[in-house]
Amino acid sequence: MSEKSNTERLQELEEQAEMGGGQRRIDRQHNAGKLTARERIDLLLDPGTFVELDKFVVNRCNDFGMDEKKIPGDGVVTGYGKVDGRIVYVFAQDFTVFGGSLSGAFAEKICKVMDLARQNGAPVIGLNDSGGARIQEGVVSLAGYADIFHRNVQASGVVPQISAIMGPCAGGAVYSPALTDFIFMVDETSYMFITGPDVVKTVTSQEVTKQDLGGAAVHSEKSGVSHFECASEEECIAGIRELLSFIPSNNADDPPFVPTDDPPDRREEALANLVPENPSKPYDIKELIAHVVDDNHFYEVQADFARNMVIGFARLAGHSVGIVANQPNHLAGCLDIDASLKGARFVRFCDAFNIPVVTFVDVPGFLPGVDQEYGGIIRHGAKLLYAFSEATVPKVTLITRKAYGGAYDVMSSKHIGADINLAYPTGEIAVMGPDGAVNIIFRKELAEADDPEAKKAELVDEYRKTFANPFKAAELGYIDEIINPVDTRPRLIQSLEILQTKRAERPPKKHGNIPL
Ligand code: HXC
Repeated sequence: MSEKSNTERLQELEEQAEMGGGQRRIDRQHNAGKLTARERIDLLLDPGTFVELDKFVVNRCNDFGMDEKKIPGDGVVTGYGKVDGRIVYVFAQDFTVFGGSLSGAFAEKICKVMDLARQNGAPVIGLNDSGGARIQEGVVSLAGYADIFHRNVQASGVVPQISAIMGPCAGGAVYSPALTDFIFMVDETSYMFITGPDVVKTVTSQEVTKQDLGGAAVHSEKSGVSHFECASEEECIAGIRELLSFIPSNNADDPPFVPTDDPPDRREEALANLVPENPSKPYDIKELIAHVVDDNHFYEVQADFARNMVIGFARLAGHSVGIVANQPNHLAGCLDIDASLKGARFVRFCDAFNIPVVTFVDVPGFLPGVDQEYGGIIRHGAKLLYAFSEATVPKVTLITRKAYGGAYDVMSSKHIGADINLAYPTGEIAVMGPDGAVNIIFRKELAEADDPEAKKAELVDEYRKTFANPFKAAELGYIDEIINPVDTRPRLIQSLEILQTKRAERPPKKHGNIPL
C-alpha cells in the first residue's frame, strides 16, 4: 500500500477536525436547537475572514482510554477574523467533541488567542457550550480553567471581552464569562449555575429545573449576571456584532465613528412636553433617549434587570456614548442596590474604553427599606458614586426632573467630576422632595394649624417655589445651563464636542479600593 503524501494527510486531518465529534453528534446538536461551533463562527465573522489556529491540537491524556480518542482540535475552535472589518479573536467550544469539556490542551488553545488579543489590542469573543472540566483529565483541567481566569483578569480593561452562553456552563466554568465585560445568553438552550439542580436538591431540598435555576431569563431579570437575553443563536450573534460597533478594539483606541444623516442641530419638538408637569407622573426615559440620539437608535444593555436604571450605548453625531439614566417608569426611578451595581459596572466599562458617559437624571432618592439596608445599599450605592467619580472620560449630565438628596450627588453631579451639567426648567434639585421636607421642617406649624391639610398644601407650594426648581443650583454654578428640552440633542453634541480633547489627571496609585 502506498504511503499517504503530506498533502493527503493534511486534507484528511482538516476534514477530521471539521467533522468534530462526527455526524451523529452534529445532528444531535442541531436537533437540540443549537448550531455547531464552526457554524457559529461563520455567522459571527465577516465572510471568508476566519483564520483557524491550532486546528490539529489533540488531548495529551493517557487515562481512561483517552489516548485512543484523539480528535483534532480537541473540542474548541480558535482563531481570529473580522467583524465589520476589525480584527477580533474568537474561541468556540465544540459540544460535539467530548461535550466541549475543557482539557489541558483545550485551555492552552484559548490562552493562546487571549494572549494574542491582549498583545495586539483586539477584542476576545468566547462562545461557550461545554460540559465543564474534562473529567478524564482531573486537575490538569482545573489548572487550565485557572490559566484562563488569570488571563481574563489581565485583559480586563485592556481589550473588550465578550461571552456568549450557548449551551451548558456550570461549576467553576462560569467564572471565565463572569470576568468578561458582557454576557449574552440564548433562551431555552443555555444555562449557567455554580451547582446544578441535583446538588441544589440534595443540599437544600429545593426542586428546580435547569432553566429556572440558571436560564437566560433568570440571569437577565433576577441575578443580573447576563447582559443580553436572546431568542435565538442568530439573534445572539447579531447582538455581539452590534455591541462591537459601539466599542473600541482596546483601551488605547477610540470607538468606531459611524457617520449619520441625522443632523447634529436637530431640535426635537416632541421633547417639549415629554416630561410631565406633575412631578409624580411617570414617563419613559427611553423615549426621551430615543428622541435625542442618532437615528433614534439606543442599544440597551441589561434591559430587564433593575429596570429603574437604564444603561446602554448610542451615538451622538457619529460618536459612541454610554448612557446612564434613571427610569421614572419603574420604582419612580429610585436608586436601589441592583440599579447601583448595574450603573457602576457600566460606567467603569465606558471609562476603561474611552466612551463618554451621558447621564439623564430623574431620581427621587435612594429606595428606603429594611431589605435595602440589610442588603448593603450603603456599600453598593457607594459603588455608583465611586464609578462616576473615578471616571475620567467626558461626562455630561442632564437633570430632566428630580435630583434629590444623596442621589443628586451620586448621579454624576458637578461635584463628583461631571464636566458639563445641564437641566431642564422642570428640574427639581434639593435635599428632599417637597412633601417630606415640609413634614420635617414645619412639623410644629402643621400640628398647630387649624386646617393642617390646607396649611400643608400652602407650605408645599412655598417649598416647591423656593427649592423644587433648577434655579438655585444654576445660581451657584452647579448647573452650567438650563436648556429648552427641544435643544437636548444639539446641546449634548456641543458639550461632547468641547470635551473631545479633555485631559484628566488622577493621583498615581496601584488601584483604588472600590467598596466591593
Ligand atoms: C468529559 C464529557 C463531559 C465532561 C460531557 N461529556 N461532559 N466528557 N468531561 N465534563 C461527554 C459525554 O460523555 C458525552 O460523550 C458527550 O460529552 C455529551 O454528553 P451527554 O451527557 O450525552 O450530553 P447531554 O445529555 O446534553 O448533557 C450535557 C451535560 C452532561 C449536562 C453537560 O454531559 C453533564 O452533566 N456532564 C458533566 C458535567 C460535569 O459534571 N462537569 C464537570 C463539572 S466540574 P459521548 O461520547 O457520549 O458523545 C467543573 C469544574 C470546573 O466543570 C472548575 C473550574 C474551576
